[in-house]
Amino acid sequence: PQISGSVALFSVSSYACQRRTTLDNHNSNLTDALSLLAENAELNNEDGRGVAFRRAAALLKALPTQVISMSQLRGLPCLGEHSLRVIKDVLENGVSSEVESTKQSKRYKALKILTGIFGVGAKTADRWIRAGIYNLEQLRHSGQTLNRAQKAGLEHYDDLNEPVTKAEADAIGEIVQKAVDSVLTGSQVALSGGFRRGKLTGHDVDFLITHPEEGKEVGLMPKVVAWLESQGFLLYQKTTRNSYLESKDGPARPASNMDRFERCFSIFKLTKGKEQETASHKIWRAVRVDLVVSPISQFAFAVLGWTGSKLFERELRRWAGHEKNMSLSSHALFDNTQNKYLRATSEEEIFAYLGLEYIPPSERNA
Ligand code: CTP
Ligand code: MN
Ligand code: MN
Ligand code: MN
Repeated sequence: PQISGSVALFSVSSYACQRRTTLDNHNSNLTDALSLLAENAELNNEDGRGVAFRRAAALLKALPTQVISMSQLRGLPCLGEHSLRVIKDVLENGVSSEVESTKQSKRYKALKILTGIFGVGAKTADRWIRAGIYNLEQLRHSGQTLNRAQKAGLEHYDDLNEPVTKAEADAIGEIVQKAVDSVLTGSQVALSGGFRRGKLTGHDVDFLITHPEEGKEVGLMPKVVAWLESQGFLLYQKTTRNSYLESKDGPARPASNMDRFERCFSIFKLTKGKEQETASHKIWRAVRVDLVVSPISQFAFAVLGWTGSKLFERELRRWAGHEKNMSLSSHALFDNTQNKYLRATSEEEIFAYLGLEYIPPSERNA
């Protein structure tokens, strides 16, 4: 049979949570282009455009082979007119002219540099750009007031923009486990975020903390933070109470055990090795770490919600709402038809409630 020249037609589900997306991406030439346009849209507060590019990129990530011709994309979902134009440009010319001009633009470069500061979002960056600030040097001399997070972000800029390795994530995991063991025996720590999906690097390290006895986790975060601080492991931390109860767009008012989520955005001081520190040789580096405490009754939802990817999570919630008349959050799953919460102790059970095939973390890299 003649195989060369034949064009494979793919069949792909339209929700990312119905697909298996590993880190083995056969179309990074296309997904890099679409992801950059998604990022640019998000940096300009154009969330709708951002999601459209993210969905298109995610679809291509799930394809089993490299796309070489537009005809292979016929009938595929998630590919809008704009995304198709970008894909066509890359397939025909090797690069997308829109991506190239975006990368060169003064505004995009400034938005990247400024939002690269921990604590600086698109809105702050935009305000600074309108005040003529395009880089860190100009920011430092601008007289702009920085909050505590932004000051720490600026101080540790280079470290925080250096990808975190799995080895560093594991080292931090041991420290967090030690902290948790020291303040409440029996507490459990679980790695979440990108590293749980098998990524080799990340922009931070995400952990969930719980205790097998419901209620024991209350007040745990301040104790963990105090221990870490006393041992000199924290360069910055901000602990926030869960705001689930106050949120207006969440599902129906949750049960009384729903107001206990606490999270901590932190910057760890991670010692690199056993070398001696000298004036010119720093032996530690700053690493962003997110800690979340969850009651055991919500733990499966917290694990599912904090494993990502962000698009996979968004698609799970969209699937739940549009296809199942359910509301999914990192706390709970509410069935709007039966008007009740659906309890779960594992991710598998949650997928089953949602009528979805179970997708393991390593295949949630949408
Ligand atoms: N998350 C969340 N609420 C936030 C921030 C993040 O629920 N305010 C969730 C995201 O939906 C994601 C997970 O936490 O599922 C991890 O987020 P993040 O650390 O930003 O992304 P990663 O996938 O871990 O990627 P990276 O390697 O860049 O850290
Ligand atoms: Mn493959
Ligand atoms: Mn992360
Ligand atoms: Mn995070």
